[in-house]
Amino acid sequence: MSEHSTSLAVVVLAAGIGKRMRSETPKALHRVCGSTLLECVLDQVEGLGAREVVVVVGHGAAEVSSVVGERARCVVQAEQNGTGHAVAVAAEVLGPDIDELLVVSGDSPLVRSSTLESLAEARRAESAAASMLTAVLEDPTGYGRVLRGEGGGIERIVEEADAVAGERDVREVNACAYAFDRAPLETALKGLTNENAQGEYYLTDVIEGYVDGGLRVIAVVGSAEEAMGVNDRSQLAFVGELMRDRINRELMLSGVTMVDPRSTYVDLHVAVGRDTVLLPMTFLRGSTRIGEGCSIGPCTEVNDSVLGDGCIVTFSWLDGCEVSSDVEVGPYSRLRPGSRVGSGCRVGSYVETKNSVIGRGSKVPHLSYIGDAEIGEDVNVGAGSITCNYDGEKKHRTVIGDRAFIGSDTMMVAPVKIGADAATGAGSAIYEDVPDGSLGVERSEQKNIPGWRKKRKDGRARRR
Ligand code: UD1
Ligand code: CA
Repeated sequence: MSEHSTSLAVVVLAAGIGKRMRSETPKALHRVCGSTLLECVLDQVEGLGAREVVVVVGHGAAEVSSVVGERARCVVQAEQNGTGHAVAVAAEVLGPDIDELLVVSGDSPLVRSSTLESLAEARRAESAAASMLTAVLEDPTGYGRVLRGEGGGIERIVEEADAVAGERDVREVNACAYAFDRAPLETALKGLTNENAQGEYYLTDVIEGYVDGGLRVIAVVGSAEEAMGVNDRSQLAFVGELMRDRINRELMLSGVTMVDPRSTYVDLHVAVGRDTVLLPMTFLRGSTRIGEGCSIGPCTEVNDSVLGDGCIVTFSWLDGCEVSSDVEVGPYSRLRPGSRVGSGCRVGSYVETKNSVIGRGSKVPHLSYIGDAEIGEDVNVGAGSITCNYDGEKKHRTVIGDRAFIGSDTMMVAPVKIGADAATGAGSAIYEDVPDGSLGVERSEQKNIPGWRKKRKDGRARRR
């Protein structure tokens, strides 16, 4: 971090209505790869060591501010009169020690911290009044075009709405990221007018004013990717795809195998360990952390869950779970919030768990519901067994001791406790506690009727 960074403030513009999104949700709160556009920008800004970070909010101010939370100070731009007006509103609240502003747009989530850093560096190095980030796009539609003079220096920026035919052909665009020396900026903002197609105070006009007044402006040409803004939902999807490529590339370079990165969806803050294999149609969401040497997918969603090393999860859905190492899940299982699965466990096919602890080495291999249960270590839960945790009013707990053997199709009517080393008979509805080492069996005795098949057949023949 340079010594200058201590007097730096970052201003994030996020007050706009986002009309082209056609949404009830403020544009800044639309998401790519699990994070809101605004959070993506804040992630990048936070590494810059700025003394202050100010987010300009307006449309949906309360909602946007609550997403910002403690991460930055929000200032309200009551009427969204343009990007220049937005920066003026922010500049008013900055402390007197701030002498440098970095302005970024809350709808450009792909801009990188390192690029913003070099933008600020470039301005300082040349003691310019401003530096701005540009990019050359294949299709510049919708962006402000960067018009350069004969010597190649910047002359001004023209918004698409204000551009004439020749100007629209320019493919260099304004990425809406700038570094400014504070004093001349505040003077220039006061002089802005709104005489343009949109009737707004454009921040871009500051640049033209500088050039006309002989102040130095530097353009830093960045990548097309980082300049991508989100104005409509098609751009949201496009930017999301670029973000996903970025996440996937980083994971693969860090040692994660993706059989088909194009059908692998990993949110921004997910961590995946080395030598883990992600199979197609895998979604890793939220705060999920996956250990090393796991195999996840195909067709699996893991949301806000932590998995240890060596786990195998196939065709399953996990949400809010803690899973230890060497656990097998699926195919076709659903682990709901509060499921804590110990190491070496198997939660097999068609099993649902919720708010339950399954101790080390225990197995629930087939067709079970385990809810509000505490299962000890090395327990075997036979196929089709269910904890009947709900009496129609309240939820109750089932406790199963270490090494217990739950016979197939046992209904454990909670609250109920099955002791250590105990067993239950297949098909039993267990509603009383089973002491340690005992067998709990609840079923009527079997009656065998000799010759029944033949008698039935003969009877039918007679009736015909
Ligand atoms: C802006 C730039 C354009 C650039 C493009 C890059 C201007 C005039 N135009 O255009 O040159 O190519 O970004 O993506 O600056 N905002 C406010 N208050 C307002 C208006 C906007 O906070 O009064 C915020 C918006 O929420 C948004 C950002 O500023 O996050 C940019 O506004 P937007 O309307 O998206 O500008 P563009 O038309 O994309
Ligand atoms: Ca925009």
